[in-house]
Amino acid sequence: MKQFKLLYLASEVSPFAVAGGLADVTSALPKALKNLNQEVRLMIPKYKFINERKYVLREVIRLREIPVTVNNETAVASVKSAFLPDSKVQVYFIEVGDYFNRPGIYKDPKTNKPYPDNAIRFAFFCKAAIETLKKLSWQPDIIHCNDWQTAFVPVYLKTIYQGDPFFKGIKTIYTIHNLTTQGDFDVNIAEKIDFDKSQVKEGGLFYKDGKLNLTKAAIYFSDFITTVSETYANEILTDDEVGFGFGPILEEKEDKFEGIMNGIDYGIWSPEKDKYIPFHYSKEDLTNKEENKKALLMRLGMSYEPGVPVMGMISKLTRQKGFDLVLDIMEDLLKENLKLIIHGDGDRDLAEKFLQFASKFPDKLSVSITYDEKMAHLIEAGSDMFLMPSRYEPCGLNQIYSMRYGTIPIVSAVGGLFDSVDDIDEETGEGTGFIIEELTPKALLKAIKRALKYYKNKDKWTELQKRIMEEDFSWDISAKRYVDIYDRLINETEF
Ligand code: GLC
Repeated sequence: MKQFKLLYLASEVSPFAVAGGLADVTSALPKALKNLNQEVRLMIPKYKFINERKYVLREVIRLREIPVTVNNETAVASVKSAFLPDSKVQVYFIEVGDYFNRPGIYKDPKTNKPYPDNAIRFAFFCKAAIETLKKLSWQPDIIHCNDWQTAFVPVYLKTIYQGDPFFKGIKTIYTIHNLTTQGDFDVNIAEKIDFDKSQVKEGGLFYKDGKLNLTKAAIYFSDFITTVSETYANEILTDDEVGFGFGPILEEKEDKFEGIMNGIDYGIWSPEKDKYIPFHYSKEDLTNKEENKKALLMRLGMSYEPGVPVMGMISKLTRQKGFDLVLDIMEDLLKENLKLIIHGDGDRDLAEKFLQFASKFPDKLSVSITYDEKMAHLIEAGSDMFLMPSRYEPCGLNQIYSMRYGTIPIVSAVGGLFDSVDDIDEETGEGTGFIIEELTPKALLKAIKRALKYYKNKDKWTELQKRIMEEDFSWDISAKRYVDIYDRLINETEF
């Protein structure tokens, strides 16, 4: 396999800065690329909360005090470096002015509102990343960007830096992790982020639905676009609701657009060696899974009752993730012989409603409105089933983690969920999870009841657990597909 120089850019990378599934992918894919002998380096913002000691961040003398100018405002960037834990992937942490010296990644934790200058913050991050490359004298073959926070890079390279010989020939690839957040801002922001304001009106390259749209900008300016599963790629091309009207825009680039299923990092997500769970287990012996269940329930102040299944949900509490549907069937669910555990940040009004139910039925429902990595692992290990009734799901990772932990997924038939879970046939026992046939409360309840019924047959359930634990979604295959794309791009004749 050919070797390339790759710069991987993201606003979140696990374990340094995590808000969602994006962070898992941006740490796992670079590691997988490194294993394929690629020269890959990462750049992320240096958020205030990143623990410099714990992760051994070091100053890089020649990357101190780099002036970065966006719209006539100059901020000073300084770059530190460390390695992704358990790997040789180098990570540069970019500090620029005071833009990331704050407690949240995107939102102010106090108000739960996005920082009003988010577009400017990430414009500075991207400019600083570009300037850092020059200071480093490191010319990557490919810059791989992820989500709107990095969308400025393809745009700047083809506008501001167009004539700069240092960047000549560098190709950009842009991965859409979820179109729910597109980076849409008031049109007046254009000048403040060095975008051509004549393109922010009807018909303009950056203009969509009355706003300046960074995802649209990235789609036009990148050399290749990917998203995180094949089905989601199809859905956003063809379904206006899932694709937020991006279908026609992506269609223009159809030969430069592909869906590649995310893999997962079994170094972190395996019940045999998970460093966050109290009891390790494997498909050969599942006894300890039950011990994790006890530990989980105890941690949450719930009683352990043999034979009563636990259903986990780790997700942002939003409509996109189907939480409104869960609310619709809450009363029915509380009548079932079942304990439900919900863990994740999200919409306050949805959260409130779940919290109310939980206060009335504390031994049947646990709701924690926060995200805690350790708790996420314990829920995967200690639950019997895992629920994801998403309206759309670009890839979804928890259904795949669940399979490795012998925790049976119950999922809707969309995006990456559809690509990774096969419906169980009660007769033959084939399949890997329970599919919610349509996005209605009734169908949701039906799927959960099917799972509860299946659970009663201990032998069949154990056989199913053992089988799904064998499913392999490691990154090897998907990382190779990315390398193929890099290869194609590099060998393309220049425009
Ligand atoms: C986003 C998507 C999720 C995907 C993840 C990583 O968080 O919502 O489906 O798994 O990105 O690509």
